[in-house]
Amino acid sequence: MKVIILPDAQAVAEYAATQIQQQIARRADSVLGLATGSTPLHTYAQLIERVRRGKLSFRAVRTFNLDEYLGLAADHPQSYRSFMDQHLFSHIDINRENTYVPDGMATDPQQACADYELAIRAAGGIDLQLLGLGRNGHIGFNEPSSSLGSRTRIKTLTSATIADNARFFHADEFQPHLSITMGIGTILEARQITLLATGESKAPAVQAMIEGAISAACPASILQMHPNVTVVIDEAAAQQLK
Ligand code: F6R
Repeated sequence: MKVIILPDAQAVAEYAATQIQQQIARRADSVLGLATGSTPLHTYAQLIERVRRGKLSFRAVRTFNLDEYLGLAADHPQSYRSFMDQHLFSHIDINRENTYVPDGMATDPQQACADYELAIRAAGGIDLQLLGLGRNGHIGFNEPSSSLGSRTRIKTLTSATIADNARFFHADEFQPHLSITMGIGTILEARQITLLATGESKAPAVQAMIEGAISAACPASILQMHPNVTVVIDEAAAQQLK
């Protein structure tokens, strides 16, 4: 596990965008694993800027998002598909048909999970997986107690995650308690993983992930076992490291 501590969230975003840019330079048709949430927003803004300046092209890139809310249609404003369209895909030269997000309205969600695994495999696996980190140590929506070998599946969100994500929903709006998420086993198959965490609120989870025992109590701690992980954090998120 390589740990990079940078002064602030902007520096973290620039570092992550450069890792993605280098991956695409190595292989134009790279397969990227992508995350939603607040943390990667600056990274996506950086990528958009680099595409605008002609330094980067996503023309042949394929992407797989980590997760989606079960029960939200793709065009629902709070769906992760909408999030990706709004914050990345509609601003870059990616072929929309090459962007995959789990289907939150699948008539057979279990089959949709199995199909998602097959689609990742058919694409040749994920070259670079971008991750955020939940305050409770989750990656994707693999909440504490998730099996460390889990595959894409339906997962109930913990009350902590529901509360953390309530900021994205209006008070009177339906907020799903279920998700479809890549499993921890799925994530670990990515050839390279870049995890981003910024801000003081992530400091305990960062400490547990890097210095704690490998345990389902902190799903991100399993990343200690992966041969090619870069954890990119700002000083605020690093403050509980010993
Ligand atoms: C999002 C995801 C989640 C987030 C995590 C951190 O696709 O998989 O694991 O990365 O909840 O969210 P933020 O960045 O909003 O703190």
